[in-house]
Amino acid sequence: MIEIAPSILSANPSRLGEQVRDCFEAGVRRIHVDVMDGQFVPNITVGPMVVEALRPLADEYGGDIETHLMIVQPERFLTDFSRAGADIIIVHVETCPMLHRCVWAIRELGRRPVVALNPGTHISAIEEIVTEVDQVLVMTVDPGFGGQDLVPSTVGKIGRVCRMLADRGLEHIPVEVDGGIHQGTIGVVARAGASIAVSGTGVFNDQRSVADNLKSMLVAAENV
Ligand code: DX5
Ligand code: ZN
Repeated sequence: MIEIAPSILSANPSRLGEQVRDCFEAGVRRIHVDVMDGQFVPNITVGPMVVEALRPLADEYGGDIETHLMIVQPERFLTDFSRAGADIIIVHVETCPMLHRCVWAIRELGRRPVVALNPGTHISAIEEIVTEVDQVLVMTVDPGFGGQDLVPSTVGKIGRVCRMLADRGLEHIPVEVDGGIHQGTIGVVARAGASIAVSGTGVFNDQRSVADNLKSMLVAAENV
């Protein structure tokens, strides 16, 4: 069954703790924190302080915090996010010319390294690093904002990444997707091979509760 990683980008900042607790109470095992610098992507969000603030809550439920670094030169901030309590640190291949150094630095900090690639980036960009990571993140939108539509060509790309991993005997490495995933799209990405789905606006919206949204998405993922 696909796992949903709620992105707090779409949570209500004035009720962040409460909404993250709702997620954990509903069975969520990982929270996705989007870090944007206004350079790599045209938006600014949060930093290590927010990871630190959520850490006790994640510990209470035995959950993970994954930090998606959409920032230039992410290697400058790995120690800060690790100290703040990020279990998983995601870096973009587009920001990391020294990818092995960066991934190894995350590993040395005792954290789980993940590489992400944008919709326009060919899967060959991760070919030399897949043996070193704990997970691959296939961006299903150009990063920067919540609530965007999934880029259709990324669905086929999920399958191509899965095959690349299988060809190397790495089928145990989960493929995560991020962007435009909601009740209407989770089925198609699950069928394509994604085993973790990040969702922001699909989980946090004013129409329904977090628990109801999560449940509907899981049902939709099963009934394709
Ligand atoms: C996009 C972020 C996503 C974002 C997804 O740049 O990386 O994590 O929060 O939001 P939705 O699910 O609304 O597309
Ligand atoms: Zn993200």
